[in-house]
Amino acid sequence: MVKIAPSILAADFNRLGEEIKAVENAGADYLHIDVMDGAFVPNISFGLPLIKSIRRNTDIFFDVHLMIMEPIRFIESFSESGADSITVHLEACSDVFSTLRQIRKCGKKCGISIKPTTPVTRLEPYLELVDMILIMSVEPGFGGQTLFESTYQRIKDVKALAEEHGVSPDIEIDGGINRENAKALADAGADVLVMGSTVFAGDPGENVSYFTKLLK
Ligand code: DX5
Ligand code: ZN
Repeated sequence: MVKIAPSILAADFNRLGEEIKAVENAGADYLHIDVMDGAFVPNISFGLPLIKSIRRNTDIFFDVHLMIMEPIRFIESFSESGADSITVHLEACSDVFSTLRQIRKCGKKCGISIKPTTPVTRLEPYLELVDMILIMSVEPGFGGQTLFESTYQRIKDVKALAEEHGVSPDIEIDGGINRENAKALADAGADVLVMGSTVFAGDPGENVSYFTKLLK
């Protein structure tokens, strides 16, 4: 069953608590939380205080996507803030193994992400160590972009690579997902679909219900 992960990057921050409740009540599986540092990506979003604050208001699974350089510096802090899973970018870590080990040590689900043009073979050393692989389907940094068509093939390539290693981490796709392409991504093998503008433009609860019916 495909999981739906609304990204709060596209939410109305004036009404963040209400919007989170709306997607939770409509059956969203994860809340996707995009942390950006203005260095790994050319944008700054939000960080620890926001996560701590919204954690008090909901039990939904927090899927924290760290788009920050050397995330190992902050794994413990994000763990304590209420993250359920922490995903780091392979391109942002000078020591990927230690970073993933640190996430495990904190008792969190562990994810690794690659940008749209990073060869999928670079994931190979880490396949056995992660619960989830996040394949970016846009250049990370901004919501509202168009999905790279290469994503469908990359899902298949990552799945094949994982199979060769005898593991089956969840495949999460992030960026440019909408009513037109969500089903095709699920059919290509995606396990988790992140959706920002598609969910939060309009009525977030109704939008999540639409995708719940489409995908489950
Ligand atoms: C982009 C973020 C995404 C973003 C997706 O760097 O990682 O999670 O919020 O937004 P949409 O769904 O609008 O492309
Ligand atoms: Zn994201």
